[in-house]
Amino acid sequence: MTLSDAAKLLAQARHVVVFTGAGISAESGVPTFRDALTGLWSRFDAQSLATPQAFQEDPDLVWGWYEWRRRLVQQVRPHHGHLAVARMAAWAPQLTVITQNVDDLHERAGSDAPVHLHGSLFAPRCVSCLHPAPLPETVEQPGEGSRIPPPRCTLCGDLVRPGVVWFGEQLPEEALFAAAQAASRCDLLLTVGTSGLVYPAAEIPRLAARSGAAVIQVNPQATPLDPITAANLRGAAAEILPALVSAAWG
Ligand code: OAD
Repeated sequence: MTLSDAAKLLAQARHVVVFTGAGISAESGVPTFRDALTGLWSRFDAQSLATPQAFQEDPDLVWGWYEWRRRLVQQVRPHHGHLAVARMAAWAPQLTVITQNVDDLHERAGSDAPVHLHGSLFAPRCVSCLHPAPLPETVEQPGEGSRIPPPRCTLCGDLVRPGVVWFGEQLPEEALFAAAQAASRCDLLLTVGTSGLVYPAAEIPRLAARSGAAVIQVNPQATPLDPITAANLRGAAAEILPALVSAAWG
């Protein structure tokens, strides 16, 4: 199916879900996880940085790594792909943006309340009492391996942790429920820049397909989601998304 066929489907849809992964932020300068060489998991060990055990064993290393990532995100900007997603809200009768990303580029592009399945770099909370904590004021960009002691919770005094989902943890219930509900009710799901390998998030486009929605994929590479797609638009998000939105709504 061509881009213009995909655009026709998009223009006809009543409820559109946009489901994004790290690839949509790549062209803003935020590294993905699994791309060879540039992906975070090719340079860093997920088990020592993104698990509850890692935080228990070395909180300064883990907090420092997330502070490095948070500062990196603060220094980049959303691109035309993020903006195209935000613009869709003006045209699609109903739009739900669901992201696996912990950055805030959808919000900064103008998308209203995207569902964050994997939490956020900007919502630290107490490891024990879950009380939300203010973001620390970081004056300088920390280095990649900087060790920074996490702040202490103002209520109970325990450590503050990044507000992201780590390996082995449950997804936030409310976000997962909202995502599953939208996926099962939409008539079109646009999946952008995800490898479709991490569950339960990767179940979202599959649930949409099983519920009868057309799935359109934007990704320069083949993914395990290929077999469920009605259209596979091979290319970069910053290029394809604006072209798709223009072709759908002019
Ligand atoms: P991955 O790094 O697994 O996949 C990124 C995808 O983006 C790949 O399929 C790339 O081909 C594609 N991509 C790269 N550049 C792109 C571009 N310019 N435009 C469009 N696509 C592009 O990232 P995710 O699928 O988001 O979870 O990973 C899922 C989860 O694994 C993350 O949320 C994170 C990670 O571990 C947690 O931290 C819990």
